[in-house]
Amino acid sequence: MTQPFLPFTRPSIDEETIAGVVEVLRSGWITSGPKVKEFEASLSACCGGRPVRSFNSGTATLEVALRLAGVGPGHEVITTPLSWVATANVILEVGARPVFVDVDPVTRNIDLDRLEAAITPATRALIPVDLAGLPVDRDRLYDIAQRRGLRVIEDAAQAFGSRWKGRTIGSFGDFVSFSFHANKNITTSEGGALVLPDASLIPACEKLRLQGVVRTGEDGMEVDTLGGKFNLTDVAARIGVGQLRHLDEFTARRRELARLYFERFDRDLGCELPVADFVNSNWHMFQIVLPPQVKRGDFIARMREAGIGVGVHYPAIHLFSLYRNLGFREGQFPHAERIGRAIATLPLFPAMTDADVDRVCAASRAILRETLKK
Ligand SMILES: Cc1ncc(COP(=O)(O)O)c(C=O)c1O
Repeated sequence: MTQPFLPFTRPSIDEETIAGVVEVLRSGWITSGPKVKEFEASLSACCGGRPVRSFNSGTATLEVALRLAGVGPGHEVITTPLSWVATANVILEVGARPVFVDVDPVTRNIDLDRLEAAITPATRALIPVDLAGLPVDRDRLYDIAQRRGLRVIEDAAQAFGSRWKGRTIGSFGDFVSFSFHANKNITTSEGGALVLPDASLIPACEKLRLQGVVRTGEDGMEVDTLGGKFNLTDVAARIGVGQLRHLDEFTARRRELARLYFERFDRDLGCELPVADFVNSNWHMFQIVLPPQVKRGDFIARMREAGIGVGVHYPAIHLFSLYRNLGFREGQFPHAERIGRAIATLPLFPAMTDADVDRVCAASRAILRETLKK
């Protein structure tokens, strides 16, 4: 009997949430309204009571955070080349210049040992990324930011539910940005949230979220700032409300599955495994780096034939032509380039069974053994 296709990720949406979404659809109010407010209150409770505003993407959150931090033309922002392209695109969007710092090949996150050398008088902010949910060392990060007078916009798109030294990511720090895209640990189908460092930023944040509009009284309206169209809908927010109730259970199951991968993935295949962090990481992804003899495209195709989905997260950003045209070139960030060419995301999502992990490990072993023999 052929087994059903195993995707690399799949959201778990329960019947209560589906019924709740139907209720919103029938309510007569489907764009931003009471469900957005409820979702934001729940998010804030997850983030130690800090102010949180929801958005329609984790890209919009980053862009708004940069604007709130006063980053614009003539400024530089330091980030990692090994991320979803959104991380760097938002820097261009506000007219600033991205400055990349290579990753640590073990954590695959920005190498904090190299970061300070990239700071110039034009540097205004740092955008660290917690790839696959493994947090960047927040103690070292904020030590550098404070000593050098830089703002931090944590791109924690993948790190909702991750922790640093017992504290939830989002419950401390400067700006913290989350994504609720369909693949994330908690989803709203598309969406995001921005944790603000200070409640005084709420009015400016809300203006930037919706066309710069400020309403007063029954009929007053004023626009003094150019804002975007970044508000979350109540339909999406209701999905988020239902998802949040499962956060701890989802994270625990992801952690169990990651442990199983460490037990069962054949260590003699020449693959690099992720850092085995069962304290801080929310295990957003389980990513291996394939050995140099293996062509990633062939591995993905063979795994698909075996009924298993494998993802690519991510090619190094500076090698995209948009970035090459800005002067970036091959060889500048060798760790990110090598990892970006060989990284492969294996299936990991809460509804997976232990037997699914065995299936992925067995298929990987068979395919990689055969490739390595050739
Ligand atoms: C690291 C990182 N940054 C930013 C984003 C952007 O989030 P969104 O897709 O919600 O705009 C994502 C989501 O894919 C991401 O993984």
